[in-house]
Amino acid sequence: MSKKPVVLVTRQLPKAVEQRLSQDYDARLNATDKIYTTDELITLAEGADAIIPCHTEDLRGDVITRLPASVRAICCFSVGYDHVNLDAAKARQITVTNTPEVLSEATAEIAMLLMLGAARRGFEAQQQIRTNTWADWTAAHDLGLQVSNKRLGILGMGRVGQFMAQFARGFGMQIHYHSRNQLDSAIEQGAIYHESAEALFSHSDILSIHCPANAETHHLLNAERIQLLPDNAIVVNTSRGAVVDDDALIEALQSGKLFAAGLDVFNNEPNIDPRYKTLINTFLLPHVGSATIETRDAMGFRALDNLDAIIANQKPKDLLV
Ligand code: DGY
Repeated sequence: MSKKPVVLVTRQLPKAVEQRLSQDYDARLNATDKIYTTDELITLAEGADAIIPCHTEDLRGDVITRLPASVRAICCFSVGYDHVNLDAAKARQITVTNTPEVLSEATAEIAMLLMLGAARRGFEAQQQIRTNTWADWTAAHDLGLQVSNKRLGILGMGRVGQFMAQFARGFGMQIHYHSRNQLDSAIEQGAIYHESAEALFSHSDILSIHCPANAETHHLLNAERIQLLPDNAIVVNTSRGAVVDDDALIEALQSGKLFAAGLDVFNNEPNIDPRYKTLINTFLLPHVGSATIETRDAMGFRALDNLDAIIANQKPKDLLV
């Protein structure tokens, strides 16, 4: 009987995904879900044909260079791939894949939750209930901003952005967007395209960030661009923390330039800038955009479909390099 290919799985994955992994591969699973150090990861990858990492593993250039020669595939359990140095992987002839499409709706749902939580002062309201500090109903109690019929600016009109637009249309929101390219009018469905992020910002009562993190988008939301947003605007981020300059966003939340922010992703997770936690006009979630039972299963199966193809010497569906 031929030996099964060896796969290092860096984090605990959904049961059904691990079952398929164990059935088809010699799978090195992570039963305790401990985050491996770089040295541990490299040692555990010894003799492995492939690695399935999450975004919690920083596969920088120097880490990829140190991976054992046996590794020929990195099949990310994530749509984002800013944690993998693609150039280094390409130089080593390691195939890299991600898991697009399957998490778009779940992430857009969380963006809606963040938008509503930020606009309707969800954090303060929760806090009053849970700390027994809700004194009484008054006509001026916890007044938020209505999102219905406002302008929603979508930065990055990929799959998640398109679902966000679809959901927001149900609230009567007017959709504006900026992406590298303008979409076909059939996909736009009346959304207004802006050729630059700056132009989009000045038309966004609520700005929702959906672009990937890369060199071009690093700190794209900075102090200068925040000034382009209308006063009392709301910022929502379900993409990556790196797109935001924390100092600038926190300053704008403190000064009242912005009404609120709804954030699911941060720089330096999970050790986020502590100032976010002191602000009452933030609605914060711990990177749960894709955290639904259905979506996490689908992400795992998508990563495995890619791996199966690579092992069979076929082109995987979600080939990055
Ligand atoms: C993704 O898939 O990129 C999510 O952020 C979870 O890692």
